[in-house]
Amino acid sequence: LLAGIYSSAPAVSPVADPPPSLKIAVLYASQSGTAEGLARKVAKDLKAKGHIASLLTLEGYTPASLLAETYAIIIASTYGEGEAPDSVRPFYEQLCLEHFPCCENLSYAVLALGDSTYEHFCKFGIDLDNKLASLAGTRICDRIDCDVDLDESFTQWKTTLYARIDDIVAARPARTAPSSSIITAPSSVSEPTAPSHTRDNPFLAPLVDKRPLTRDISSKLTLHLAFNISDSTLRYEAGDACGVIPRNDIHLVEEILHTLNFSGSVPVQLPKSGTTTLLDALLHHLQITRLTRKMIEAYATIGRHTAQCQPLFHLLVPEQQAHLEKYTYDRGLIDLLHDYPGILHEPADLVAMLPRLSPRLYSISSSPSAHAGQIHTTVAVVRYRAHNRDRGGVCSTLLSDRTNTGESLPVYIQPNKRFRLPSDPAAPIIMIGPGTGIAPFRAFLHERRALNHTGRNWLFFGERSAATDFLYRDELQSMHTDGHLTHLDLAFSRDQDRKIYVQDRMLEQAPTFWQWLQDGASVYVCGDASRMAKDVDATLHTIAEQQGHLTRESATEYIHQLKEHHRYHRDVY
Ligand code: 2AM
Repeated sequence: LLAGIYSSAPAVSPVADPPPSLKIAVLYASQSGTAEGLARKVAKDLKAKGHIASLLTLEGYTPASLLAETYAIIIASTYGEGEAPDSVRPFYEQLCLEHFPCCENLSYAVLALGDSTYEHFCKFGIDLDNKLASLAGTRICDRIDCDVDLDESFTQWKTTLYARIDDIVAARPARTAPSSSIITAPSSVSEPTAPSHTRDNPFLAPLVDKRPLTRDISSKLTLHLAFNISDSTLRYEAGDACGVIPRNDIHLVEEILHTLNFSGSVPVQLPKSGTTTLLDALLHHLQITRLTRKMIEAYATIGRHTAQCQPLFHLLVPEQQAHLEKYTYDRGLIDLLHDYPGILHEPADLVAMLPRLSPRLYSISSSPSAHAGQIHTTVAVVRYRAHNRDRGGVCSTLLSDRTNTGESLPVYIQPNKRFRLPSDPAAPIIMIGPGTGIAPFRAFLHERRALNHTGRNWLFFGERSAATDFLYRDELQSMHTDGHLTHLDLAFSRDQDRKIYVQDRMLEQAPTFWQWLQDGASVYVCGDASRMAKDVDATLHTIAEQQGHLTRESATEYIHQLKEHHRYHRDVY
């Protein structure tokens, strides 16, 4: 009787019995928290449907555990050059080992997250999905690859997923008694307490300080910003990021409306925010600066019956990828409208072709203990001239050009639980943060000082030129002078003929670097993912080989162990 769920005998009273619940692992590979947030929603939904859903990060999850699962839902973000988030790489590497057994008992579904402006869009999710299929896993539903603006794709994917799961449940015999592990009561989904302000419910924080950290004559502008959060319930820890909800430049919005001869006051429908005016949609909700392949595809489809759109279709064929990339890199929506005019006649078509404007995340550069009631950020202002127009980053130009102190912006905290100071206050730390990568390390240094942590601190900082780009110069030098910073190594790349980068300084200090590692130091890297973080990682391997007299394999294993023991953290973008 207890094994009734598998019995072919008819259930005693099928109508009255509740449908059998499934035990489902909801796994996520997250770096900035997006995948984690979606996974939590899925786990909650499944639980509400009576299933036994466990929410788990792939960090530290062994692929062998997958073999024990019958149903797994995986939400996987892609980082850098098409890779898994750092902390999840060991999982994927093990899964790819030659001898890894088949998982023919596993039914799974993958949602891939990525950013289509990068070449290897959603690659980790795609690889994982294909790998599980090659290991004889069964797809519950097809994978969907989500762009930054993911609300719609996510809804579509989860709707299909839930329908398939309902089908699986319907195909199973009704249960007769709560017996096997499959029929235990739904376990609670572990949910950390929800932050009071989220991206959907941000806090309107007054900007109380704004000053350049670079000198006028620098080739760059990097700003220090301070928001007052003392009237909010916002809480953060050193290492967390601050999400800023941006808005577009009103002048650009007006130019777009004028070009299309649309009135800003016409009502339009937005998938998430309901009815609003076209002006509000373009100002606050939709991305109008960067062009994406999807936007161009949508535009070309709308104009498919017109002659002027035919060159656009040509641009979309795979052989033209390089041209398309150049076109989207140099231009924004306004240029597309000028280059291929007379296509859009309906405001609704414009709204439908534009992705949602997403929040921008900045590593917090203040310490909750030393700068109570404030959030500081360190923002490089993105500006460039291309195709006869001055262009810039939506949020960084909003902060630099369109927000004065005293004005407020909507913000929230994006926790980054993988980027935390060591729990041992006496542990040494090595921080490598060129450019705006300095931000969380300024937070760490102030936090450690405020909490009287005795552990030694070592900072590698790099920028273009000492005279113009030495961010937080006075603070850092004074921390070095008073000994809070045991070492401060600087790499000003453009102050001499030969480029000098932070990793060159690491190599110069290799024996001491290695000694700190032997003393239990944790290593933190923040900043550019595409080149810097890779080169720094390679240098770390070189130091281990040279100083530890390790073979390449042993050095790789050594660095792997550092990560396993939470002593090598990266916050790279
Ligand atoms: P560059 O622009 O002169 O090449 C912050 O942007 C600093 O990081 C700058 O000094 C920049 O140098 C430097 N940088 C550029 N590429 C780097 C790399 N691969 N590794 C480390 N630092 C790098």
